[in-house]
Amino acid sequence: MKIRIAEYCGFCYGVKRAVDMAYKLAEANESSGTLGPLIHNPQLIEDLNTKGVPCRESLDEFQAGETVVFRSHGVGPDVYEAAHAKNLTILDATCPNVKAAQKKGQALAEAGYLPVIIGEKNHPEVKSIVQWAGKHAIVIECIKDIGNVPLADKYGVLIQTTFELAKFEEILAALQKERSGEYKIEKTICLATSQRQKAALKLADEVDAFVVIGGRNSANTRHLYELVAEHCKRAYHIETASELNEEMFKNCQNIGITAGASTPDRIIKEAIRVMENMESFESMLEQSLEDAHV
Ligand code: F3S
Repeated sequence: MKIRIAEYCGFCYGVKRAVDMAYKLAEANESSGTLGPLIHNPQLIEDLNTKGVPCRESLDEFQAGETVVFRSHGVGPDVYEAAHAKNLTILDATCPNVKAAQKKGQALAEAGYLPVIIGEKNHPEVKSIVQWAGKHAIVIECIKDIGNVPLADKYGVLIQTTFELAKFEEILAALQKERSGEYKIEKTICLATSQRQKAALKLADEVDAFVVIGGRNSANTRHLYELVAEHCKRAYHIETASELNEEMFKNCQNIGITAGASTPDRIIKEAIRVMENMESFESMLEQSLEDAHV
């Protein structure tokens, strides 16, 4: 049997940056914590916790002088103000792509546009963009939400960085049809998600079984799994290598592997190591993890 790794898989640039910042902080041995889980991966959150950077749910749990890490999804301006007021040191791990979307939202509102954010209402990144885009900003996540968009002369459209491009285009076309006016469209979408999806789909058609690795609370990992499962009958979503067994790969020749944007390398490598050690595998890694764009 042969293991094949998707060309793009695992940590995206913004998540890698945030994780590196948090581990550097852990090495510095300062009293600190992340505001909310740094990424959607329980194993990494636990590891950071044991290294002295625990996850805290609110700024109330921080004491003056401590360091607070803002995660890659970003936070609103009021959170920066509250952290300063508490005399906390801010380690800002907001992904630069998210930061750009926040700034564009703010600029659109200041220029008199009605900010319309196309994305998931409850996603932390979208919530942070809304806070920068001001009180009139509105989020739509499907065509039926367009009815909630107030009439305006000028609409400024932004997209959740991880939103699906095709879905965005469909919603935007319907919005422009139902709400006429001037439009300024900021394509704040990030390529990392679509690269991972395309690479997984390409591989899914060529393998007998597919393992998608990542936290069950990670939306992008779950989405990868759903896409793969549509093309490969034996698709498995695992969080760690402990969930793997030989039965999963019975009579399979080629096994595909991918991982969500919040899955650490060491978890992917561990899964590969366990699979290679299964009797039926011949340790034929077609592409090493180092060669893949992880
Ligand atoms: Fe940033 Fe894109 Fe990752 S917005 S956090 S690089 S998915």
